[in-house]
Amino acid sequence: MRSIKRIAVIPGDGIGKEVVPQAIRIIEASGAPVAFTHFDWGADRYLADGTTVPNDGFAMLARDFDAILVGAFGDPRVPTNIHAKEILLGMRFKMDLYANVRPVRLLDASLCPLKGIESKDIDFVVVRENTEGVYTDSGGIFKQGTADEIAIQEDINTRQGVERVIRFAFEYATNHKKADGSSRSRVLMCDKSNAMTHAGSLWQRVFKQVGAEYPQTKSEHMYVDALCMQMVREPRQFDVIVTNNMFGDIITDLAAGLQGGLGMAASGNISPGRTSMFEPVHGSAPPLAGKNLANPMGAILTAAMMLAHLGCEKEAHTIEAAVLDAVRAKKSTQDAGGPLGTKEVGEWIAERVAAGKY
Ligand code: NAD
Ligand code: IPM
Ligand code: MN
Repeated sequence: MRSIKRIAVIPGDGIGKEVVPQAIRIIEASGAPVAFTHFDWGADRYLADGTTVPNDGFAMLARDFDAILVGAFGDPRVPTNIHAKEILLGMRFKMDLYANVRPVRLLDASLCPLKGIESKDIDFVVVRENTEGVYTDSGGIFKQGTADEIAIQEDINTRQGVERVIRFAFEYATNHKKADGSSRSRVLMCDKSNAMTHAGSLWQRVFKQVGAEYPQTKSEHMYVDALCMQMVREPRQFDVIVTNNMFGDIITDLAAGLQGGLGMAASGNISPGRTSMFEPVHGSAPPLAGKNLANPMGAILTAAMMLAHLGCEKEAHTIEAAVLDAVRAKKSTQDAGGPLGTKEVGEWIAERVAAGKY
């Protein structure tokens, strides 16, 4: 008998509140042994009582849960985005979830905006450094509001932080296969070392050093600007990409475009051995919110990623197979070429998963 996994659920704002319930219903349909506890952290709570993260919130998550399932944060009523920063970046930084794993897999050729691409052509993974870079909020504003104003946003790269995420990428390549069963054989480090020479030098040296420990995996490099062009021209070439926080953020939205848009993209914020957090790549999409229009597949695939991480591989596989069927049968929202609403997509996939036909 497998132990029951304790999942903290934080739907957050906007479409997060619509896609997460669909992900939950599908986990339940899979029969995975999980127990959910729901948290109301997000813009509503912040506007009601000023709380972003309750006292001891991150310690509680790390202590009492095996994983966290998140929707999205961002609300036009909170223009500073302070709650998103404190909750989302708070979890990533304070729980030390240093590897943001963002798989980029084209489920069906019909979802890709590029010509001549088959689903097997796009199956790569971006491993984004998740606790450093320009996201640390180091720096500041000096002489604010004057003509002499200066804003400094520092890019923090520690040897330990760079090394562990690069090692994570090589381990990922070693231990994960592509959907077609073939091995992952290459790790590409993407940076801007021709302009950002100090940070670039550290990443280059550490990449070379760690890469030498994995002789069976090919080490490759590309500048981030060239990579963006290549991702659109020739996405077949990518396998595992490792990069810093900001570049990882940007290239995974581009990559989401290849797999059918942000509604299809899943992610995990992972620290091996610790409580990790899973969230779709998309944000709260205020214009879609409350209209039953948001694509829940990114959140559902995120739930599958979380289950696989928790050792429920069979359930994860079933969910992925059902999403693939839904895409092929056009049982999807408009962005993915179908006529259904958020809830109806969830219902269709949940029925398939519950029938256990995979
Ligand atoms: P967004 O991801 O919310 O939306 C970008 C585009 O993708 C929009 O056109 C939107 O309609 C579409 N889209 C996103 N998710 C979709 C889905 N599930 N189905 C169909 N279409 C979908 O990004 P944005 O508009 O730049 O940001 C909106 C808010 O979300 C901001 O406050 C931003 O800071 C926040 N945000 C939060 C996260 C997060 O919580 N992880 C991620 C990105 C943005
Ligand atoms: C993401 C988002 C966040 C990020 C924002 C909301 C701070 O874009 O998860 O991709 O930049 O990491
Ligand atoms: Mn982003």
